[in-house]
Amino acid sequence: MSGNEFTVTPWSVEGDIDYDKLVQKFGTEKISPELLDRIKKITGELHPMLKLEYFFSHRDMDKILSEYEKGNKFYLYTGRGPSGSVHMGHLLPWVFTKYLQEKFGVNLIFQITDDEKFLYSDEKSFDDVSRYTNENILDIIAVGFDPKKTKILIDSKDIKQIYPISLEIAKRITYSTVKAVFGFQNSTNIGMIGFPPIQAAPCFLPSIIEGKPTPVLIPAAIDQDPYWRVTRDIAEKIGYPKPAQIHSKFLPGLGIRGKMSSSIPETAIFTTDDEEMVDKKISNSFTGGQPTVEMQRKLGANFNICPVFWYLRYFFDSEKDSNERARKCKSGELLCGECKADLQNAAKPFIVDFKKKREKAKDKVDKFLFK
Ligand code: TYM
Repeated sequence: MSGNEFTVTPWSVEGDIDYDKLVQKFGTEKISPELLDRIKKITGELHPMLKLEYFFSHRDMDKILSEYEKGNKFYLYTGRGPSGSVHMGHLLPWVFTKYLQEKFGVNLIFQITDDEKFLYSDEKSFDDVSRYTNENILDIIAVGFDPKKTKILIDSKDIKQIYPISLEIAKRITYSTVKAVFGFQNSTNIGMIGFPPIQAAPCFLPSIIEGKPTPVLIPAAIDQDPYWRVTRDIAEKIGYPKPAQIHSKFLPGLGIRGKMSSSIPETAIFTTDDEEMVDKKISNSFTGGQPTVEMQRKLGANFNICPVFWYLRYFFDSEKDSNERARKCKSGELLCGECKADLQNAAKPFIVDFKKKREKAKDKVDKFLFK
């Protein structure tokens, strides 16, 4: 892939993503200042991920707010495909989901698509995926969701809950549609081809649980959007509200470009990494810097392409400090080693603390499982 080409699917994100183009391509809406004002009226404060436009796009978030203002609650729905350890990129949509849960006081369904990750990978056995399921559940709980308002649904175990709805969905989606939307090939195994209705099904579960039409709002990175496009097309035909979404960008990996991904472990910081590993990965990170200190002082650096900068901005810097960092980077006042040290000093205690929460989560798993 060269120039300004990019691809975004649920299984692959490549190239330099132009998020404005993606909004057009996927047919979503950018989050407007008016929408932010409406959210702020309810939540009292805007989450930094909204202020910084990390969550930048949506479908029907305005309708969710209108219903909420009338006293009609929605459910949150998000998920994880247990293909490996959880990295910091995954945590961002979950931390944001927790904020929405707290501010709106709503229930959350958290789906674990172990079936998808088994079907997708040529190498992974079902045992491998199940091990990651158990590990990833600890990360999800460690984020701090309300146990009384959160249910984790594991596809292979809880299939009974979603199978009847997924049949209704599957019957109304053709092969040519999923082929076009997900890019399936003749060589794609038929398990994968049949999988999308399983991820679509929890969109309608709240209506079944509540016994009345109950919309869902899905916070996730924009790679998951293809699922919601096909789900929205059939929702009303089978008597359910269209699922709404709020989409984030991607946390970049520490390599030259592309999103943080478990498949390139040396460029991802996992919640299970030790401090030495975190230090090493950040030391080796790509930056937007110049080849020599002299050149950097003279020409300045490019924070736009620097994962260290974005990592600090989305996780650790205040907006004010981050803007100041950007200014100093551009002017050459700041060297890459200083930003790397700042990230190391912030990421290490974060991971140490998160690991403690993961340990404590072991005693809480039962409270979160779907019954
Ligand atoms: P998965 O496990 O690939 O990703 C879990 C969540 O993390 C987001 N994400 C990222 N966000 C920011 N930066 C990154 N580098 C990054 N990489 C991944 C994903 O968008 C997702 O929100 N099939 C799904 C599991 C799933 C799901 C859902 C996700 C089932 N139902 C409903 C979202 C909403 C999957 O494999 O996600």
